Amino acid sequence: MGRPAMRLRWGWVVAGWWVWLRLCGLVVAAADGGGAEREGETLREAVRGRFLIGAAVSARRLNDPGLAELVAREFDSVTPENELKPASVRPGPGQFRFEAADRIVDFAATHGIKVVGHTLCWHSQAPRWLFVGEDGAPLPREKALKNLKEHIDGVMGHYRGKVVGWDVVNEALSDRPGEYLRQTPARRAIGDDYIVKAFEFAQAADPDAELYYNDYGIEGPEKLQKAIRLVRELKAAGVRLDAVGIQGHFVVRDEEGPERLERAIGAFQAEGVKVAVSELDVDVLPRRTRGADVAARERGGLDPYREGLPAEVAEAQARYYERVMRAVLAHPGAVCRVTFWGTHDGTSWLNSWPAGRRTNHPLLFDRDLKPKPAYRAVLGVLEGR
Ligand code: G3I
Repeated sequence: MGRPAMRLRWGWVVAGWWVWLRLCGLVVAAADGGGAEREGETLREAVRGRFLIGAAVSARRLNDPGLAELVAREFDSVTPENELKPASVRPGPGQFRFEAADRIVDFAATHGIKVVGHTLCWHSQAPRWLFVGEDGAPLPREKALKNLKEHIDGVMGHYRGKVVGWDVVNEALSDRPGEYLRQTPARRAIGDDYIVKAFEFAQAADPDAELYYNDYGIEGPEKLQKAIRLVRELKAAGVRLDAVGIQGHFVVRDEEGPERLERAIGAFQAEGVKVAVSELDVDVLPRRTRGADVAARERGGLDPYREGLPAEVAEAQARYYERVMRAVLAHPGAVCRVTFWGTHDGTSWLNSWPAGRRTNHPLLFDRDLKPKPAYRAVLGVLEGR
């Protein structure tokens, strides 16, 4: 037999082995793109249907083939990070703009990924005219309700059958001790029942979509009580609430975070409502601000990891993620989804909040799209190690 034929046969043998090893899940090669040198399962495989595992994505960043490949490989659900917010989809009264979010929904459909809608009613990133008149005064209740219903009907109607569930109301609870609801344009115009009304409108707009209440810091003891009060009020009002989104914006120095999360998951389970850890990240930079109020700003924030994350901090972050995932698994059946708020460190909102431009490292993949120790820690917990 001649040399070219020998080479051809050996080529097939090697390729056959490679495919077989991949099918066995033993090799996921760097050739997969994204520069990921990994062995074994992906996150979406390791989670084994116990809950959805997702990431917040942006339509623009999905143009990056490496990032798109990473998302399709690791996650079974995505949340548009900004594209479905009222400010993004409502260029003006009576108008809707869906192009950017549609691109994410199309990407998800191509890769068998579910889409979570974020968010229908939020005090931030919403056009003023929804709830405020030209004179600066709150709109009359009926007019504001009409606007809210038109918004929810228009957005949920456009995505009926394509979005599995919606953050119907986002961050309605107050951060102030002793104060229940945050003051917002919707609340000023409609009254305290704007939350119930939003859920009623959402339930009618797409009866098959799941409906969520989403907030930050509700794993902390005081805000948890407020969130439980809200869950009970929604139930008493007869509206459907499928899950509460605990955003999960943690700080690596805040040791107690995972325990608080576990207690909160147990508390919501006792109320008969599921939990989504809906915006998970672990901040490694120093900051004074707690929570995740987008309006909070700090001056002069330190930026110690511009050249990269020191190994010991990456390890501490990995242990933190490990504890978060153990909290998620501690109450079987209680958690319906875990969503990371971004894909790789370069995409995180924490690079520009609460202080101006810094170099943060809060996610599972670094700026070269390589898995960090945090990734291996999450995978390990999912695999039962
Ligand atoms: O799209 C514009 C761009 O045209 C403009 O040039 C640029 C200049 O600053 O701004 C761009 O918009 C930014 C947008 O993100 C898209 O990148 C906004 O300024 C910026 O404020 C916005 O920040 C988002 C923030 O919510 C406020 O909407 C973050 O990306 C997003 O991660 C963050 O997400 C929130 C959740 O919705 C709710 N929970 C807290 C979480 C973190 O704040």
